[in-house]
Amino acid sequence: MDTVNLGLEDVFIKYTKLTYIDGNKGILRYRGYDVNDLVKNCTFEEVSYLMIYGELPNSGQLKSFVDDLRDHYKLPEHVLDLIAALPRESDTLTMMETAFASMSSGDYKWNQEDDRKQAAKIMGEDLGIISNIYRHKIGLELKNPDRKYGYAEAFLRNCFDNITQEKIDAMNSALIIYIDHEVPASTTTALVASSTLSDMYSCITAAIAALKGPLHGGAAEAAYHQLIEIGKPENVENWFNENILKNNKRLMGFGHRVYKTYDPRMKIFKGIAEKLVETEEQKKNLEIAKNLEEMGVKTYGSKGIYPNTDYYSGLVFNEIGFPIYMFTTLFGFSRVLGWVAHISEYVEEEERLIRPRAIYTGFDKRDFIPLADR
Ligand code: ACO
Repeated sequence: MDTVNLGLEDVFIKYTKLTYIDGNKGILRYRGYDVNDLVKNCTFEEVSYLMIYGELPNSGQLKSFVDDLRDHYKLPEHVLDLIAALPRESDTLTMMETAFASMSSGDYKWNQEDDRKQAAKIMGEDLGIISNIYRHKIGLELKNPDRKYGYAEAFLRNCFDNITQEKIDAMNSALIIYIDHEVPASTTTALVASSTLSDMYSCITAAIAALKGPLHGGAAEAAYHQLIEIGKPENVENWFNENILKNNKRLMGFGHRVYKTYDPRMKIFKGIAEKLVETEEQKKNLEIAKNLEEMGVKTYGSKGIYPNTDYYSGLVFNEIGFPIYMFTTLFGFSRVLGWVAHISEYVEEEERLIRPRAIYTGFDKRDFIPLADR
């Protein structure tokens, strides 16, 4: 008998050489390299090259990739105008969707070389788009990032006046951590769109829509809101009992479809949050988060529900200087590269229209009733 796999749980939709996850052991590797090693040793540009080309670059390859992508820090004029024309109170992911959608030519022209060149181009544009969304939100005049700087630094310099090496390093790590995660809802959406032979920018726009929700990318914002609502470290237990247990609500930033233990990305974010913490408010929020983590693991650990990557990432983004409304967009900022890599891999290796079926459970054939008789 036909059965429905609700949520497509345990359905495999592609082969991939990009990302390996062992959800029981808490292992995440990009092209065979452990995420911890890449975060410790690489720039986001190197990891992006690895994802697109399959190998870490030598210095010549890296230089040429970086030159390519820096050529595209400068956005087409219409994209800047479009961002500036959006109401400042617009959701930042809506701004991101609008900017990416506006860059679509509607053309489908895939070939391997184009995909790779296109990846560097999109990466450069992505930096211009996200930093200018932030500039627009805080009322600054829009401007293109400075091509003198590497990716994380150019981004932060286009957002803030004062940046530190520690914050650049944290941003670089966050970008690497979020770059790809196999086929979550947003990447699957990108693949569905690309399987119809839609163009890369339209696929990215579709993926952003799927990223928005609090069950996926929006979880970092939701998790951070919990900390604010709790207010003080000593309120954690009471808040958890009253709001989560009593009301049978989900603890945001906890649980994952694949990880049944600690998400390795969460551990990296936690370490960065501890390193960057500065103000009293940040120290308080970090303490609340740690207490809540303990309560959550004690309660849900036996069911395989542990903190995920979004649990501490909001704290890190706040410590870098970003407001809550940027958190999910910062996730998307990095994940654009993962979407492009998955689409390229799918198109090159196994392109086929993604068209599942639904099992019909409605009426049998019915006789038509004219409007006057209904
Ligand atoms: N808090 C409390 N209970 C939970 C949580 C949670 N965060 N997550 C899952 N559960 C429970 C469910 O209530 C359910 O319990 P039941 O079997 O007693 O009814 C059981 O675990 C299974 O839940 P499902 O929703 O079926 O599991 P799924 O694999 O679909 O869940 C998801 C994955 C959506 C991420 C879920 O854990 C969740 O809602 N988490 C909170 C939101 C979140 O943090 N999302 C970020 C994910 S990471 C990312 O996108 C980067």
